[in-house]
Amino acid sequence: MYPFWEVPFFTSGIVIALIATFHILPCHLATGAFWFLVYVERKAVQEGRRELMEFVKRYSMLILIFCFVIGSLSGVGIWYAATVASPRGISGLIHNYVWGWATEWVFFVIEIASIYVYYYTLGKIDDKSHLMLGWLYAWAAWISMIIITGILAFMLSSGKWIETGGFFDGFFNQTYWPQLLTRTAFMFGIAGVYAIIVASRLKNRAVGHELIRTASIWGIAGMIGGALFGLWYLFSMPEHAKELGLQGGLPYLKHMLWAAGVCYAVVLAWFFLCGLVRPKLAGPVSAIFILFILFLGIGAGEGFREGVRRPYIIDQYMYSNQIIAHDLPAKGVVSEIEKYQEAGFWNSLYFRPENCDLETKSGRMQAGRLIALYQCGNCHALDRFGKMRPLPTLLQNIAPESPEDIADFMDALGDYPFMPPFAGDDKDKAAIAEYLFSIIRR
Ligand code: HEC
Repeated sequence: MYPFWEVPFFTSGIVIALIATFHILPCHLATGAFWFLVYVERKAVQEGRRELMEFVKRYSMLILIFCFVIGSLSGVGIWYAATVASPRGISGLIHNYVWGWATEWVFFVIEIASIYVYYYTLGKIDDKSHLMLGWLYAWAAWISMIIITGILAFMLSSGKWIETGGFFDGFFNQTYWPQLLTRTAFMFGIAGVYAIIVASRLKNRAVGHELIRTASIWGIAGMIGGALFGLWYLFSMPEHAKELGLQGGLPYLKHMLWAAGVCYAVVLAWFFLCGLVRPKLAGPVSAIFILFILFLGIGAGEGFREGVRRPYIIDQYMYSNQIIAHDLPAKGVVSEIEKYQEAGFWNSLYFRPENCDLETKSGRMQAGRLIALYQCGNCHALDRFGKMRPLPTLLQNIAPESPEDIADFMDALGDYPFMPPFAGDDKDKAAIAEYLFSIIRR
C-alpha cells in the first residue's frame, strides 16, 4: 500500500469526478470537432464558398485553445489525481495496458502536431494538402478514443481477462463496442454545441445561420445515436452492474441515470428549437447555458458508469480500496483479503506512524483512523460534514451500541453487494471499531 491521499470533506473521488467531468468536454470536442470542420472546409473548397473559411479559422482556433490548453491541463490533472488517489489501481492498469497507452500516445502526438500545422498553414498552402491535414487530425483523434475506450471499458467489465490475463481478452470486453459507439455518436453532439457557439459569432449572419442549422443536424444525429447506443450499453453491462444501477441495488445510481437522461433531452430540444427551427435564438448565452447542462449530464452519466462497478476499481480484480480481490493465476497475482485477515492489515502497512502502540487507547484510535482511511476512505468521508457518504452519519443506520457491534458489522461488510469485505485480523477490527464508534454522529 502507498501513502493515502486524504482530501478532507470531499474525498479524492469527488476531486477526480470534477476534473474528469470537465475533461470530457474538451476531449470529446477534440475527437468530434474535426469531422465537422473538414466537412465545412471541403464544402468551402468544392463549392468555391470562401466565406465559410472564417468559420473554419475560428472553430480551429477554439479547438486549439480549449482542447490543447485547457483540455491538456485537465487531462494531466486526471492522471495526477488518479495516480495519487489509486496508485495501485493505475499500476494495475499500466501493467496490463502499457502498450495500449503507448499506442494511444503515438496518435495523440500526431493529433497535437497536426492541429498546430493545420491552424498555422490555413490559407498558406494549397487546399488539397490542407484538407489532408484535417483528415489526419480527425482520424488520429478518433483512433486515440478507440484505444482509451478499451481501457476504460475494461475497468467495468474485465471479461475473459480474469481467466486468461490476455491483453485483447480484457480490451474487447462486453461493454467495449457499445461504449465506443456511444462516445463516437456523442462527440458529434458536443462538437455541434461548440460549432453553434462559433457560428453564432460570425460577422456574416446568413452564413452563421446556415452553419448553425447544419451543426444542429450533426448534433441531433449524434445525440439520437448516442441515446440508442447508450441503451445498448446499459443492456451489455454485467449482471452485477445491472443489479446495482438499474434494479435499485444502489438507488442513487438510478437517480443519476434519470438526471443524465433529462439533461440529454434538454440538449436535444435546444438543438431542435434554437438550432434547427430558430437559429437566431442560438446565441452564446443560450449555448453556454447548454454547456452547463451538458456538464451536469456528463457528470451524472459518467458517475453512473463509474458507480456500477462497485465494489471494484478494476472489475473482479481490485477493490476500490486497492486491495486485490481474487486470485489471478494467469498473472501470478493472489488475493490479498486472506493475506490481510491472517497477517493483519496494520502489521502489513509500510507507511504508518512510528511508536503507535495498539495496546494503548490513543494508539488504537490512531491506527483505527488510518485503517478506516485505507479501507473505506476511497468511498466514504470520515468527517461529519463530509460530502461523500460520510461515515459518521451512515454508521447511525446500523445503530451500534458499542465498538463490538461495529466489529461485528465489519464481518458482514462483504455481504453488501457494493462494499468489499473487511481485510484485517481481530486487532485491526478492534482498532477500526473503536475509532468508528468515536466518530458516530449522535
Ligand atoms: C467500494 C466503495 C466502498 C467501500 C470501500 C466501503 N463502502 Fe461503505 N458503502 C458504500 C456504498 C456505495 C454505500 C451505500 C450508501 C449510499 O446509499 O450511498 C455504503 C454504505 C455504508 C454504510 C451504511 C450501511 C447501511 O446499511 O445503511 C456503512 C455503515 C458503511 N458503508 C461503512 C463502511 C466502512 C466502515 C467501510 C470500510 C471498512 C466501507 N463502508 C467501505 C461503498 C463503500
